[in-house]
Amino acid sequence: MSVLIIAPGLKSEWWASQLLQHAPDMDVCIWPDIGDPKSVEFALAWKPPVGALATFPNLKVVFSLGAGVDHLLGDPDFPQHAVVSRVVDPYLTSGMREYVLLHVLRAHKNQPALDQQQRDHVWDDRAHELRQADEQTIGILGLGELGRNCGETLTALGFDVAGWSRTAKEIPGITCFDDRGGLDAILGRSHILICLLPLTPETEGILNAELFSKLPKGAHLINAARGGHLVEDDLIPALDSGRLAHATLDVFRTEPLPGDHPFWDHPRITVTPHNASITDPRSVARQIVQGIACSARGDDVPNTVDVARGY
Ligand code: NAP
Ligand code: GLV
Repeated sequence: MSVLIIAPGLKSEWWASQLLQHAPDMDVCIWPDIGDPKSVEFALAWKPPVGALATFPNLKVVFSLGAGVDHLLGDPDFPQHAVVSRVVDPYLTSGMREYVLLHVLRAHKNQPALDQQQRDHVWDDRAHELRQADEQTIGILGLGELGRNCGETLTALGFDVAGWSRTAKEIPGITCFDDRGGLDAILGRSHILICLLPLTPETEGILNAELFSKLPKGAHLINAARGGHLVEDDLIPALDSGRLAHATLDVFRTEPLPGDHPFWDHPRITVTPHNASITDPRSVARQIVQGIACSARGDDVPNTVDVARGY
C-alpha cells in the first residue's frame, strides 16, 4: 500500500516528511515519481492534473489538502469510487478568522479610503459617516466551519451579523437565513458581505450584478471562497457606479491573477494571493495519518464530503 502526494505547486517534500514523522514506515511517493499505480490506495491532493487520479485503480481515499474540494470534483474523470476527505483544522479556521477580521475592520474603519487620502496628501477627519460596530451589518454567505466561526468572532466584537446557509440554522448572536428567499433578505441588510461558500454548480457565479443590486449602496465585498463565485465582468461596473465601495478578493477564476488583469490596478479592489488561510502540514499531516488508519480498519474517515452535493 502506498500513499501518493499529488500537489504540484505545494511543498510536497515537506508534506512527505510530516507524514513520516507520524508514520515512519509509510510508503510515500510524490507525483509524478511513482512506482506501481496499482499500489496507491491513498492520495493527498491539491489541484491534481485533470485525469491523473483516474490512473490509480485501487484508490480508496483522496485527502484534499484544503477545505475546498472543487479542485477535485471538477475533474470529469475523478474516480467515483474514492472517498473524499477535506481539511477541517483549527489553524485553517483561525487563519480565515484573522483574514476576515482584518478586512472587516479595514472596511468598518474606512481604511481603503483613508489610504487614498494619504496618497493624495489629504487630511480630512470628517469625510466618513460615523458608524459603531453594532450599526455595522455584516452578511456571511456560508455558515459552515469557516463562516460560522468568523460570524461568532464578529458577533463577539459587537457587529450585527447575519449568515446564509443551504439548511436552516440557529446560532446564538447570528441572524440566520436559508434558501433563495433568505438570500434576498440577507443581501438587503449587508453593508459588508463576506463569501465563504463552497464552489458548487449552485453557487458558481453567485456574486454577480443582480446580487450587487440587492446590497445597500456602498457595500463592501470580501470574497475569500473561490474565484468561480464572482462574475468578474460585473465587479468593476459595480465599483465604478458606487454600488459597491470596495472589494477584497483572495481568490480568482485564473490563479495566479494574470499580470494584465484590471483588478490589480483598480483603486477600490484589494488583491491577496489566495493566502487567506493556508493548510499547515504540521497540524494536518497527523489527521491524514489517522484518516488512513481509520480507512485501513474499515472505520469511517473523518471530514468526508458528499460528492453528489459537491461539498
Ligand atoms: P463548509 O463547512 O462545507 O461550509 C459550507 C457552508 O456553505 C455551509 O454552511 C453550507 O450550508 C453553505 N452552502 C453550501 N451550498 C450552499 C447553497 N447552495 N446555498 C446556501 N448555502 C450553501 O465549508 P468551509 O470549511 O466553511 O469552507 C468554505 C469554503 O471556503 C471552502 O469550500 C473553500 O472554497 C473556501 N476556502 C478558502 C480559503 C482561502 O484561503 N481563500 C481557505 C479555506 C477555505 P449547510 O450548512 O446548510 O450545508
Ligand atoms: C483553500 O483555498 C482551501 O480550500 O483550503
